[in-house]
Amino acid sequence: MASPQITRDDCLQMDASDPLAAFRQRFQTPKADTIFLDANSMGAMPATVPAHMQSFFDEAWVELRRQGWNHFEWMERPFQIGAAISHLIGAEPDDVIACDNTTVNLYKLLTYAWRVRLNGRVILTEDTNFPTDLYVAQGLPGALDGDPVITVCESRQQLIDSISPDTAVIYLSHVDYRSGERWDMADINRRAHEAGALTVWDLSHSAGAIPVDLMTSQADFAVGCGYKYLSGGPGGAAYCWVHPDHGDKAWPTICGWMGHGDVFAFATEYTPHKGTWRHATGTPAVIANEVFSCAADIWREVDASTLWSKHRALGNLMINLLEQECSDLGVSVNTPKEYDLRGGHIGFSHEGAGPLCEALLAAGVVGSFRKPDALRFGLGALYLSYTDIWTTVERLKEILQSESWRDPKFQKVSV
Ligand SMILES: Cc1ncc(COP(=O)(O)O)c(C=O)c1O
Repeated sequence: MASPQITRDDCLQMDASDPLAAFRQRFQTPKADTIFLDANSMGAMPATVPAHMQSFFDEAWVELRRQGWNHFEWMERPFQIGAAISHLIGAEPDDVIACDNTTVNLYKLLTYAWRVRLNGRVILTEDTNFPTDLYVAQGLPGALDGDPVITVCESRQQLIDSISPDTAVIYLSHVDYRSGERWDMADINRRAHEAGALTVWDLSHSAGAIPVDLMTSQADFAVGCGYKYLSGGPGGAAYCWVHPDHGDKAWPTICGWMGHGDVFAFATEYTPHKGTWRHATGTPAVIANEVFSCAADIWREVDASTLWSKHRALGNLMINLLEQECSDLGVSVNTPKEYDLRGGHIGFSHEGAGPLCEALLAAGVVGSFRKPDALRFGLGALYLSYTDIWTTVERLKEILQSESWRDPKFQKVSV
């Protein structure tokens, strides 16, 4: 029997019983009637940011200046933000810090993993990993002792088959930034450990959207972007996590004063802080961290499993509606439909994906285009409603039916 058609009323009902509905008001709504589906690129702004930053400028920078370090918690922010998001990635609060960007954290932890590895010379990854992840690895042979060999696999199966006693480190994006495919993190951690290798995960497209359980799945190291699903703000800090078993095994790659065991002792000799905190480098990005702290205040209140359930339901709804309303208009969902195999965004292929993305923008739906034919919608579960998903698909359908995306004004595609 065919499943019943989904209606707008169904979406309204789901909104009415959404346990996270109140969080929507905690984010700034856009002025125009726009639906932002780009949490995989830039999460929404917490509503408290403008007032918080105004008082930061007026009270802290103008009035207090350097006394701000004492009056406010600028030094503690990296650890406070890390603790606030820790439950979203299955980590202990003291093991996560918000600092630097993802690329720098990746370099810090890959090089650290190399030094504390048990065996092997091969660093394994896959060719669909995000470019910065690939580039960081390409730079490692010139930077590390011990002749690392970087092996970039062309498929997931090839990666699994390549794990051997010569594997030192496996580093992967938990969710592929293009296809939305999710790795089975526990499975890879197990295979890695059986071969004596360590794992480094990039959680940029999973944290704040789908379940991540670093401790239970026995991951070794993780990094991720703060400005995507976590709403840390443009250019906001990334984060890094080190399994407590590895925390004190070696000095960090960058022995900065913020990673010293006693920062204000101003000691001549370096003594690393305990655990992940030793990977803090220099002065935190205070202004950016003040922005991120507004999101951290929200994340502290969010129950992770409720968040993941809503994200799952939003994703299912989007897939079902795309199929129901648009499959005979050339839309074919290309992210995995099975929940356990997908990540934070839902994507589909269409011959005119680029112009379609532009036409959607003009109709107040913000998604993102990836060559050659993919359109992605990143789902921010704290502020999107089920009716938003309905409206998105209705607007898409209208554009497809009218073929307005073929208009010359939509042919210049932004990236
Ligand atoms: C998987 C992944 N890693 C890293 C980054 C960016 O890293 P960074 O914070 O160094 O710019 C992105 C950006 O989109 C990403 O998708």
